[in-house]
Amino acid sequence: MTAKKRPKMKALTKGVIDTKMFKNRMLRTLSVSLPISALMLLLSTTVTVAAPSESIVSQSHALSVLSNSEQQRLQARLSTVESEIERLLPQLTLEEKVSLVHAGGKFHIPAIERLNIHEMWMSDGPHGVRYEIDRNSWAPAGWTNDYSTYLPPLTAVAASWDPEMASLHGNVLGAEARHRNKDLILGPGVNLARLPLYGRNFEYMGEDPYLAATLVVPTVKAIQANDVGATVKHYALNTQELNRTGVNAKPDERTLREVYLPAFEAAVKEANVHAIMGAYNEFRGTNANQSHHLIKTILKGEWAYEGVLLTDWNVDINTYDAAMNGLDIEMGTAVESYDEYFLADPLLAMIKAGKVPESELDDKVRRILRVQLSIGMMDKQRLSGERNTQAHREDARTIAANGVVLLKNNNQVLPLDTNKVENILVLGPNADKRHGFGGGSSEVKALYEVSPLDGLKAKFEQVGNKVNIQHMRPASSKFMPIPNDYLTTRHWTGTPSWQINYYADNQLKQLTSESWIADPQFDAKGQQQNVEIQANIKPMESGKHTLKVLGDGKVSLLINDKLLFSQNAQHTNVINEDIELKAGETYAFKLVYQGKKNVTLGWETPNSLYNSESEYLNAAKSADAVIYYAGLSHADDRESIDRPDMKLPGQQDEIISKLLSVNPNTVIFIIGGSAVEMPWAEKANAIAWGWYGGMEAGHAYTDVLFGDVNPSGKLPITLPKKLQDTAPIALNDYNEKESLYSEGVFIGYRWFEQQKIVPEFPFGHGLSYSEFSYDDIKFSSSKLSGDDTLTVTASITNTSKTDGAEVVQLYLYDMKASVPRPLKELKGFDKVWLKAGQTGKVSFNLNKRDLSFWDVKTNDWLAESGEFKVMLGSSVEDIRLHKSFQYQQ
Ligand code: BGC
Repeated sequence: MTAKKRPKMKALTKGVIDTKMFKNRMLRTLSVSLPISALMLLLSTTVTVAAPSESIVSQSHALSVLSNSEQQRLQARLSTVESEIERLLPQLTLEEKVSLVHAGGKFHIPAIERLNIHEMWMSDGPHGVRYEIDRNSWAPAGWTNDYSTYLPPLTAVAASWDPEMASLHGNVLGAEARHRNKDLILGPGVNLARLPLYGRNFEYMGEDPYLAATLVVPTVKAIQANDVGATVKHYALNTQELNRTGVNAKPDERTLREVYLPAFEAAVKEANVHAIMGAYNEFRGTNANQSHHLIKTILKGEWAYEGVLLTDWNVDINTYDAAMNGLDIEMGTAVESYDEYFLADPLLAMIKAGKVPESELDDKVRRILRVQLSIGMMDKQRLSGERNTQAHREDARTIAANGVVLLKNNNQVLPLDTNKVENILVLGPNADKRHGFGGGSSEVKALYEVSPLDGLKAKFEQVGNKVNIQHMRPASSKFMPIPNDYLTTRHWTGTPSWQINYYADNQLKQLTSESWIADPQFDAKGQQQNVEIQANIKPMESGKHTLKVLGDGKVSLLINDKLLFSQNAQHTNVINEDIELKAGETYAFKLVYQGKKNVTLGWETPNSLYNSESEYLNAAKSADAVIYYAGLSHADDRESIDRPDMKLPGQQDEIISKLLSVNPNTVIFIIGGSAVEMPWAEKANAIAWGWYGGMEAGHAYTDVLFGDVNPSGKLPITLPKKLQDTAPIALNDYNEKESLYSEGVFIGYRWFEQQKIVPEFPFGHGLSYSEFSYDDIKFSSSKLSGDDTLTVTASITNTSKTDGAEVVQLYLYDMKASVPRPLKELKGFDKVWLKAGQTGKVSFNLNKRDLSFWDVKTNDWLAESGEFKVMLGSSVEDIRLHKSFQYQQ
């Protein structure tokens, strides 16, 4: 029997999916994403679309036809786009054309009313439509009706390894952007997770070029099916936040083509994406937004891209290079007037002086008009979208649940049994944390957000079981900084943070720089430092708070500008001071430190919000189930700053180890967008990873923990044992100045395999409550020649008593190559949903491009004749079947 793609989602995600609605959306998904020629072909004949034989993404996805009326509407619109461009262009004055190629506000380009050309509005992206920002400043516009669905970030989509989840994600984003009157949504992001410390990994689709290229296609198509343009970002090589606007990315050409570009290439060639955003960093010595090689040669040359390239917000470009090398729109530049933008008056002057030909400008304007016309900006029948619907919330829940990765499940600790569990102990910094409002430009003003604890409570209210859920905050034996749950001060990325000011002198007069830190602690690393650390604090309880400072040197604490205490000690010392604080009031805390070692500000709250070690460990011994929600927050995973290390913040490792020693069945549920070290992994029986789960996170996690949803996610990143094991760190290629990408094409798991380093959990790993066996690998032919396609099939059986899904992964190895090639390269995957006992078939198509590497001698893809090994597995390290074939050029 051939396994169908998710025949009944309801069976696996109880009550949260309307399959008919999903189908209807999928019908629309295909529409505006296709070039006109493909659309015409589709209208006349076919029902499903297979990827072209030499596509980057060789797996075909089942997409259906459009409804008749939608076909007609789109056909009518798309068929006139080019003639409309040619009608409008000659009517525009030079000044009007220039006005279109740069911002007219923080998030729009101007209108030309007399020609019915409207303002083109953009919004972040990528996991929900951002709250409305003031037209001309970064301040919130103060709207009360700009809430939107907070979706699980793209890392969760990547962890689902499921194009249908990508489609759902894109559809919600597109429909909501449209409903907020946006024309371009600034997402999806497809930079690869090369470095676990990178603050923006959580926004993207993992570490593998094939996985990202496969999933970006349905995401973009679904967004654009809503008459909104997707903006794939950041082109290219934005793989660190450390000096993100200055670091010079210098990968060799092969690495660029094979690793960092395929997701962009797929978005252009297979999803017909309308917009691409440049990256902040430099590429080979010039800003990426004006790189001739990236834009003119590759994007607009080789890939024949017809959409627009816009800058990231405020980039360091120059008018001539940007104009000549293919940049279409300049956004966000920090100058007084929009006329001062590089592509504003300076461009006008250069055109008038004959330095930049007007034809370059015309090309940009044609592209802008093409996008505007294609998404229906001048079409009265343009779709109007919808927002915060029940269906969108259900989609958010489905995506979150499908992205959960079960990393370890010894002794079948999971799923927890509702009938057996009466006392649940819940702990961990993420138990009651909400993440939507944070992370940087991707922050979302969610209508609501269900925390893990809320989700658990809701489940038991629903089933009516008498379950006692006890929530504890473990105190650490170490000195604890004041947790950021109390902060009202926010870094611009939306995360609660402390501002830190550095001074050159001990008079605190010459401010040298200012920055933000997650916790009120500072390490002077042996050098004399003069700093002020400040934040506004809102206590949760009224009464006596004992403030504690651990530090050396001169330390003083001021609250609302009143000195609470000060000391001058040579050695590290603890100071305690009591103060009455009122719940709900805001207090300005300022810690001044002048010393060479370190300082930390902690406190004890009146009713002791924290449970002592003996309290929480005793509770963990007697509970029927213990769940520790560990991980990161957007104080760690955030735009503009990388993490300092790969450790779980705070005292989590210590507390987890203690819990595991009294109760090894403690479920460690990690929330976060980048790898963390797990020094306790060996001791734990149950570990799961939930990324950030969007507004329905708590429900989705609970669905998985209690078996209402059988986990089916797989890691889209490698989880290393330690930071030093990762390529950029091991090769000393992480600094402010330049990134050489010294590991070449050996990104992520490819590096671990090549170096024979065993990670904590490998790429592609993820368990299910079901078990699967793999049999019968077959090829359609023993040889592959030239441009032909080889089909690989295998049988997968669900050998368990539980319905579930397996992501079968196809890795390829070129047995003898003239260049170093990875031992395994992902070249296909298929998620099969099988009932208990059911056998299904997976099928993959391999073509010349799948076999190829980028040949720097010919500047083209090259598949060398010889033997290739196909490996099918449940992760990169768990290969179940393999077989080889010969390729003949
Ligand atoms: C980010 C982009 C974002 C833009 C607009 C930049 O700081 O890098 O991803 O779309 O801001 O908010």
